[in-house]
Amino acid sequence: MFIWAPLLVFTGIAQISAQAVTPTSVGSWTYQGCFIDNPFRQLQHQQFVTGGMTVEACTSACKTAGFALAGLEFGGECWCDSFLQGTQQFADSQCAQMTCSGNSAETCGGPDRLQVYLDTSAAPPQTDVCVVTNSEDFSPIAVSKSTPATETRLNLLDVGVSGTHAFLLTADTCPSCEVEGDVQLGALLVLSSLYPDAAFVEFFNATTGDSPIGRELFTPQTNVYCAQISPVTGRIGPLVVAANGHSDLWALCPNTTAGLRSDLVYSPVASHPHYTLNDCESVWLTMAWFD
Ligand SMILES: *[C@@H]1O[C@H](CO)[C@@H](O)[C@H](O)[C@H]1NC(C)=O
Ligand SMILES: *[C@@H]1O[C@H](CO)[C@@H](O)[C@H](O)[C@H]1NC(C)=O
Repeated sequence: MFIWAPLLVFTGIAQISAQAVTPTSVGSWTYQGCFIDNPFRQLQHQQFVTGGMTVEACTSACKTAGFALAGLEFGGECWCDSFLQGTQQFADSQCAQMTCSGNSAETCGGPDRLQVYLDTSAAPPQTDVCVVTNSEDFSPIAVSKSTPATETRLNLLDVGVSGTHAFLLTADTCPSCEVEGDVQLGALLVLSSLYPDAAFVEFFNATTGDSPIGRELFTPQTNVYCAQISPVTGRIGPLVVAANGHSDLWALCPNTTAGLRSDLVYSPVASHPHYTLNDCESVWLTMAWFD
C-alpha cells in the first residue's frame, strides 16, 4: 500500500536571516549594484580569505591584490578586477539571497549574482590601454556622444560585388537578427544570423576616414582592435572597442552613395566621396554583453 506523505526538501542554500543587510559602503568601498556572473566570469581574479567571507574581508583582499572592484557571490566567493565586463544588472534583492559565510548579518550575493563594490579611493582607470576580456558574444552598439545618448545596434552588411564578400558595420535593419562580436588577436570578429552561412567576419584594418571592411578570412595578428575601459562609464559599464589605440574616433555617417545608410566610419575626414563630415555623428562602439 502506498502512503503519501509531504516531503520537505532542503536546497542547501543558507536561509537569509531577517537582519541580513547589504552594506552600502565599507571603508572607501561603495556598493554599485547586483550584476550577472554568467556565462563567464565578470570579475576574473578570485581571492580566498580565512575565517569566512565578509564584505570587509573581500574588499580588503581585492585592495591588497591591487584591484578597484570587488564582488561577492554565492555566500562565500570573492572576485576582484579593474573593470566589470558584463553590465546586465538586477534588482538588489537578487544579491541578498545568501548571507556571508563569515557574517550572517551581511549579504554576499547569490547564485550567478555578484554584489559589486568600487574602491572610491582608487585612481581613475586607465582608458587608453587594452584590457583582456575572457568573453565573446557582445552586442556591437554605437552610443552617441550627444545628450541624451542614443543607442544604435550595428549589424553586418555585405556590400561585396561579383562574388567577393566585403562586410560593413551599419545601423541594423534586422531587429530580430542575432549579432555577436568578439575582439581577438587584434581583430574585431562579428557574426550575424543575417548571414547564416558565413563564419565570423574579421575586421583587421581601420583606415582613417573609411568604413572598416570585414572579410571572411583570418589573417595573422594585426593588433589593430582591442577592448578598452570606456572614458564615459568607467569601471562599471560596457567596454568600448578601440582601433589603432583610439576608442574615441568612431562615427556613424549617412552614406551619400547608399541612400544615406548609416555606416560606421573610423575617424571621418572632410571631402570624402561617400559622406559629408558635418553629417557624421560621433559614437562610442560599446560592447554590451547579454545573458
Ligand atoms: C590594411 O590597410 C592598409 C593601409 O590602408 C593597407 O595597405 C593594407 O593592404 C590593408 N590590409 C588588408 C589586409 O587589407
Ligand atoms: C558607402 O557605401 C559604399 C557602397 O556600399 C561602400 O563601398 C562604402 O564603404 C560606404 N561607406 C563609406 C564610409 O565609404
